[in-house]
Amino acid sequence: MSHEEFPTENPAVVTCGLPYANGDLHVGHLRTYVGGDAFARALETLGQRTAFVSGSDMHGTPVAVNAWEEGVTPEEFALRHHEKYRKTFPKFDVEFDNYGHTAEDTNVELTQQFVRELDDGGYIYEQEIEVAWDPAEDQPLPDRYVEGTCPYCGARARGDECDEGCGRHLEPGEIEDPTSAITGNPAEYRTREHKFLRLSEFQDYLGEFIDRMEGTANAKNQPREWIEGELQDWCITRDLDWGIEYPGEEDLVLYVWVDAPIEYVSSTKQYTERVGSEEFDWEQAWQDDGELVHVIGRDIIQHHTVFWPAMLRGVDYQEPRAVLASGFVNLDGKGFSTSRNRAVWVDDYLDEGFDTDLYRYYIMTGSGFQQDIDFSWERFAERVNGELVGTVGNFLYRSLLFAHRNYGGTPDGEVSEEVRERIEDAMDDFRDGVNDYSVRAVANAAVELAGFGNEYIQRHEPWNAEDPERAQVICDCVQLSKAVTVLAEPVMPGMAARLWSQLDEGGSVHDVALDAALDAPPVEFDAPEEPFERIDDERVAELNEKLEAQIAAASDGEGGDGDDTAGGEHADHEALVDERIGFDEFQDLDIRVGKVLTAEGIDGADDLARLEVDLGVETRQIVAGIKQLHDLDGLAGERVVVLANIEKTELFGVESNGMVLAAGDEADLLRTHGDSPPGTKIR
Ligand code: 2FM
Ligand code: ZN
Repeated sequence: MSHEEFPTENPAVVTCGLPYANGDLHVGHLRTYVGGDAFARALETLGQRTAFVSGSDMHGTPVAVNAWEEGVTPEEFALRHHEKYRKTFPKFDVEFDNYGHTAEDTNVELTQQFVRELDDGGYIYEQEIEVAWDPAEDQPLPDRYVEGTCPYCGARARGDECDEGCGRHLEPGEIEDPTSAITGNPAEYRTREHKFLRLSEFQDYLGEFIDRMEGTANAKNQPREWIEGELQDWCITRDLDWGIEYPGEEDLVLYVWVDAPIEYVSSTKQYTERVGSEEFDWEQAWQDDGELVHVIGRDIIQHHTVFWPAMLRGVDYQEPRAVLASGFVNLDGKGFSTSRNRAVWVDDYLDEGFDTDLYRYYIMTGSGFQQDIDFSWERFAERVNGELVGTVGNFLYRSLLFAHRNYGGTPDGEVSEEVRERIEDAMDDFRDGVNDYSVRAVANAAVELAGFGNEYIQRHEPWNAEDPERAQVICDCVQLSKAVTVLAEPVMPGMAARLWSQLDEGGSVHDVALDAALDAPPVEFDAPEEPFERIDDERVAELNEKLEAQIAAASDGEGGDGDDTAGGEHADHEALVDERIGFDEFQDLDIRVGKVLTAEGIDGADDLARLEVDLGVETRQIVAGIKQLHDLDGLAGERVVVLANIEKTELFGVESNGMVLAAGDEADLLRTHGDSPPGTKIR
């Protein structure tokens, strides 16, 4: 079965993976929430009835361990973080229709109902298993209470998740060489009775499901390995006193991964209870014909494409239509680290007074959704100044200012054929973007339309023209501005709302349909304001200094050796990328041996150096961030490795035509082992 294109007649539910209510949010955490929000907004722009829901994940050891460390109850700890998240998301215009939490009655009741139905359907059985135990403390060690070695890849792992290695979910008893995460004592295994979901019963179903599931390629491909192999049954209870009780078993709580996704349903139900089922019917969506789209991080694909669809199937609910799994956000090439304070915190970003649209745009368009993306203040400023200020802002501001000054608004007349067609193309790109689950393509539809606008206004030079030609160009430009506003709304809702009101349009741009892009703009409007502000080099330098000082202070305090468990973080090295590329794609990279001819610092730039590099067939000028890290005088004559066919770019006004490859933060330059001459291709 292939799915009908959006918009459909059915209700859609867009969900975001529930954040564990266990720590502060950094900007890296926002990727899936902004992604989900932008996708839900884009669906609504297409006219799709949509509920956008999520909630805080209150249970499980990720919360219990952190609460224990702070010496407070898990409930108090989780509620405090839940409140914080609930207030933070709207500041980034992540506007959930409902944001609940997993400990609310709605979710407790629905979870227990799910479990009873699964039990009635014969999908649950009881079995004795070995669970990790701290003999000194005489307490069980579920999930994050135990650490050890992953039996699949040998990496250091936590009890239920190999988060630094192969990424697999680990069942109780699987981890090798277990030690207690609380006391450091070696753990032993003891026998306990637990409940299991017969995942193996769903093997055939899951095989068919994954063939029709849509979304990002990683979410569609990665689960095949598990589904096509032998599916192990899934232990769904834990020896813990924080969680939802297994119905009728006082000593057992449900594994957090049972009640967490059910919150997607509970949150939708709460939304219906608020707005009424005529507006949005949660039962229709979840039990009948809803278009269910899950937006998650790439570390929880297995939970959403294996465990969750099996649970839904077991209670006869609708299956997910699509799973969109995002890559992680790194900071200057390395993972964010809560314990090392190596992070741009959401509150700090807001305190700096930056428009939240800037960051939304940055993370939604800097790479494909499933790829990792790097955040640095330099790159942030570069993209804001180039793409937002230089292209989008420039076009909108100069068009609307010219229109306002000369005509008090939109001049009389019809939009030209050329511009109408270009807007229609952009609308098609927007629709295709939604149907390809690509928020980046949705954003690009708007930005490229603004780029066309710049080219159009430049080509027609209205400042040198007389009416009626001049009026025609400006009429076109105002229409283009309005279309850019409508198309940009999902990714940059703040800017779109400001522009909408500057155009003196009534109502909210959030509520308009895509066709509004071609509706005539108001005859009169006020003088516009510049939509975006430039970020200058001094500001970037200040931001970097602050960040460096923050990291240094944390490493002074802790000897730089904290763990990175809070918030599903990753250690210093980024995890290996799951997604494979074909040999052909590798062959597309033109990597060569180069010989440095000259190397000199670039005036005014702290880190950048200009290199002349002999690539055998030609000499290239390349800018590299190595000024502080290498003795530039000693570099001439050195062999380096160069990616020759990367796009040209300009850094500090100097063109860079290639990239010198280097390892890590210290930019350890790559060299060849022998004496391959410049120009030798690396394969
Ligand atoms: O990995 C996590 O951060 C979990 N709290 C995500 C839960 S998503 C869902 F299925 F509930
Ligand atoms: Zn592993």
